Amino acid sequence: MTDQLKGVVLAGGTGSRLYPLTKVTNKHLLPVGHYPMIYHPLMRMRRAGIQEVAIVTSPEHMGDVVNLLGSGRGLGLDLTYRVQDEPGGIAQAIGLCENFVGTDPFLVILGDNVLADDLTDEVAAYQRQLAEQGGGARVLLKKVHDPERYGVPRFEDGKIVEIIEKPTDPPSSYSVTGIYFYDASVFDIIRGLAPSRRGEFEISDVSTAYVQRGHLSHGILDGWWGDAGTMEGWHEANELARSLTYEELETDA
Ligand code: DAU
Repeated sequence: MTDQLKGVVLAGGTGSRLYPLTKVTNKHLLPVGHYPMIYHPLMRMRRAGIQEVAIVTSPEHMGDVVNLLGSGRGLGLDLTYRVQDEPGGIAQAIGLCENFVGTDPFLVILGDNVLADDLTDEVAAYQRQLAEQGGGARVLLKKVHDPERYGVPRFEDGKIVEIIEKPTDPPSSYSVTGIYFYDASVFDIIRGLAPSRRGEFEISDVSTAYVQRGHLSHGILDGWWGDAGTMEGWHEANELARSLTYEELETDA
């Protein structure tokens, strides 16, 4: 294991909540602010010093995603691709990256998450956790007005004791954002998961498994954050990202 993090960006799924915008294209290729949606998680990784990134997408859209991003050279990244044959859930998509990740710790960002914060300090906080505990996971939270749309943490004495996916009665007003740090033991956890009632392998169950081992930490995002995966969220993310530019792209992409 090295302490250099790898990255995983998930861009599979059906995009059904943005239909018909997603009838002939992948959700993550739609514009958000000045860029295709998927640039946002990728540029957050680059700025935090992560260069080796795997992108997971569906067979229908892999061609378009590769046409846009290629080897990643133009973005200052080294990209690898993985096909998710059917959208079996976020945890399943992460499971496809086991060979890419090897024994390294890694950062996962969902391809529809758009955020203002630089993640460099969060990467450093996770590296400290790895040094102190020898492993574990870290999730990033954001206070929201509509937690029922997200995975929601339940706290006891300031610590997360459970994460509940889209609860009807949210136990807190925080969303677990689509930004997760894991070590390679996540793949054993994923292998042991059962599908949820909606038939997906849920990321919230993965993070709850780390809680049970006493190895889940959390940070809170300071700046704005959006999930562009619904019509309302996509409009909101466009508004928030209007002023966002990545200087590192101006000359080389
Ligand atoms: O954005 C934060 C939320 O993202 C979290 O609070 C939730 O706990 C988490 O489950 C997720 O909820 P969503 O309802 O937004 O998940 P969605 O199905 O939209 O998938 C999010 C991204 O993951 C999407 O950009 C595509 C990718 N994905 C999704 C599925 C189901 C895949 O790559 N493969 C999949 O099978």
